[in-house]
Amino acid sequence: MYKHPPGLVELGKRYWLPVYKPRELVLDHGKGARVWDTEGRDYVDFGAGIAVNALGHQDPDLLAALTAQAHKLWHSSNVFYTEPPLRLAEELVHASGFAERVFLCNSGAEANEAAIKLVRKWAATQGRAPERRVIVTFNGSFHGRTLATVTATAQAKYQQGYEPLPAGFRHLDFNDAQALEATFAAGDVAAVMLEPVQGEGGVLPAAPGFLKRVRELCDQHDALLVLDEIQCGMGRTGTLFAHAHENVRPDIVTLAKALGGGFPIGAMLAGPKVAEVMQYGAHGTTFGGNPMAAAVARVALAKLSSPAVLMNVERQANDLRAGLARINHELQLFAEVRGRGLMIGAVLADAYKGKAGAVLDHAATRGLLLLQAGPDVLRFVPPLTITDEELADGLARLHAALSDFAAG
Ligand SMILES: Cc1ncc(COP(=O)(O)O)c(C=O)c1O
Repeated sequence: MYKHPPGLVELGKRYWLPVYKPRELVLDHGKGARVWDTEGRDYVDFGAGIAVNALGHQDPDLLAALTAQAHKLWHSSNVFYTEPPLRLAEELVHASGFAERVFLCNSGAEANEAAIKLVRKWAATQGRAPERRVIVTFNGSFHGRTLATVTATAQAKYQQGYEPLPAGFRHLDFNDAQALEATFAAGDVAAVMLEPVQGEGGVLPAAPGFLKRVRELCDQHDALLVLDEIQCGMGRTGTLFAHAHENVRPDIVTLAKALGGGFPIGAMLAGPKVAEVMQYGAHGTTFGGNPMAAAVARVALAKLSSPAVLMNVERQANDLRAGLARINHELQLFAEVRGRGLMIGAVLADAYKGKAGAVLDHAATRGLLLLQAGPDVLRFVPPLTITDEELADGLARLHAALSDFAAG
């Protein structure tokens, strides 16, 4: 047994910009779907970072790719080619089935920022005046924290105090096809941007048929369909891309989170309408296409596309849902369990509204790393490779934590 050096947590409180409120434990290492803190306690990881460590911790193939590349070349900038990002771009294009080109970057917000800029540039090349380059997004969405992506994010709490916000975004209710039809009638919409399963907004899948309807309306009105698959992509819903369930063809898709299996990387995939719009000098980023990140992402992409992983998602999602149903039968804490694949939200019943944070405290005490999606929803996004044993252990710990919570 070891203890973290005294005062470690206090360093965060003293020196970090206080924009986060981490739990008072210091994580040290992980293996599979388990993590250990510096005091030697183990946790089952039902959060995978925030839907990032899709292959669990210390996946041997990711580790091998990272260390092999670390012994070769860490960085070269985009002034020169290196092999990993070249291969990764080709592999993403082939895996996507729609994209022709890829822009590599470092985070989800940066991928969405690129998508927003690409929409604007495309509209400009069409001769549309700036006021006719509106991007429609949906209430409850989350697209990032940069000024443009936070404006796309249709949740006031992320925007307050950062005004003036960039112009040209319009927010509608998610799954409201009629409102979308009405807004298209204004003739100023250049793109619709959405998450096929809203993540931060409460783990809410698009209603059946909604994506298809959005695609039809975009086609009718010559607008682009941008899908933010940063959280729901890379196998999390049981298919490599979440939009595959609805069989729609997007114009732009953004990825990050699980793409690097825990190593920072983002990507914007551009389809035929927009692949040639941005030319030399139109956009860029110092670290985008970093060979270490790309080497890891190539392996992550191959593994997360594999039938073995995707079948495990389906199998463990069924077991997780069955476990949640059993717990709820006994404790009656959830009004609803929703989501897709291993992206599941348990919505707290009215009597427990606003108390997701308190549940997370009990979970940590019982050795379970759990996330919330807003104040009312428990979010389950474990590694896609979680084993039967890890899942069963996690459910047992969840049962203990929820029993503590229910007992007050
Ligand atoms: C759907 C979605 N889009 C964008 C982002 C922003 O990604 P990042 O935090 O890497 O900038 C997130 C992060 O939670 C997300 O869930």
